[in-house]
Amino acid sequence: MSILELTAPDAFLRNSWYVARVSREVTREPLAVRLLGQDIVLYRRQDGSPVALEDACPHRKLPLSMGRIKGDAIECGYHGLTFDGCGTCIEAPTQARIPAAARVRSYPVRDRYGLLWIWMGEPEQAEHTALLHIEHHDDPSWHMTQGDSLLCDCHYLWLVDNLLDPSHVAWVHRSTFASSGTEDTPLEIDSDEHGVVCSRWIYGKPPPPFYAPLVKFEGPADRLQHYEVQLPSIAINRSIFAPAGMGGQTTGDDPRIYRMVSYNFLTPIDADRTLYFWLQHRNTDPHNQALTERIAAGAKAAFEEDRQVLEAVHRGMKNPTKPHIGLLLDAGAARFRKTLAERIAAEQAVRREAAPA
Ligand code: FES
Ligand SMILES: [Fe+2]
Repeated sequence: MSILELTAPDAFLRNSWYVARVSREVTREPLAVRLLGQDIVLYRRQDGSPVALEDACPHRKLPLSMGRIKGDAIECGYHGLTFDGCGTCIEAPTQARIPAAARVRSYPVRDRYGLLWIWMGEPEQAEHTALLHIEHHDDPSWHMTQGDSLLCDCHYLWLVDNLLDPSHVAWVHRSTFASSGTEDTPLEIDSDEHGVVCSRWIYGKPPPPFYAPLVKFEGPADRLQHYEVQLPSIAINRSIFAPAGMGGQTTGDDPRIYRMVSYNFLTPIDADRTLYFWLQHRNTDPHNQALTERIAAGAKAAFEEDRQVLEAVHRGMKNPTKPHIGLLLDAGAARFRKTLAERIAAEQAVRREAAPA
């Protein structure tokens, strides 16, 4: 699969956990979502456990999300076919016998970190694939913001590119994340079969406006920008601010060192739209609600700046009048796309072999 084919309508890695929604948005009311080009209905059983089903009744394809929840099941709003949380039809009120083909696909789902995760591939593989592990998740000295989300009218790989590109903060986030050195400090790129990391230390500069009120020391800082994306679309953005002279690969555990990890989850709706979810995790002030709200609002404002740029990039790259050029800063994204294209091609080959002739 070539790099460009990654933007084809069906070029998604399916055997993976994706974030479907922030957990609190999934309730006892049916919620229609579209993920990786598939229509899905989400709801919760009486015990709170989540359900994800194909959102099309097998009779006349009415979305089940237009029906109603009955106990742990969902009833079609046209003629009452009723499906349990596994997609099995348990009632056909208009006739004596339930048709053998009356079932809908069900998707594995999990609540974790305040997010609802869904497995979009072969269900049996979900059992053997761990969800993302968030380091320090249970550490009371750290604090995690509640999840939030943004709809972006662009292909998810433009968001991935952006989250492997620390230099963009110098232009896109001038009033928040930009600081001296973000334009031109060289990057280190590491990669393996799981993804790519683009990172750099910027030494001895004042912290940028977003971070200046958060760090616990005065004066210049050594700053780590660690931009990591794990296949297919989990972006982990680690920031460290240490008093100047303390940065570098071994920063120790001096209490003045500020650490923030921004987790970004990009779920394709289709080839032109993406749901962008995120959490912020920091090692300071776990009980300071005002600070948490300020960080959450600042992050959302910054991601809104990304959204505007990347939607315009999507439109420009989809309808170019001339070929585009590459820059050295694209190296991490190019490596990521190559690995992803290989994984998707391998997955699609397995699916083709398994399909009936
Ligand atoms: S369309 Fe669902 S039962 Fe007829
Ligand atoms: Fe950004």
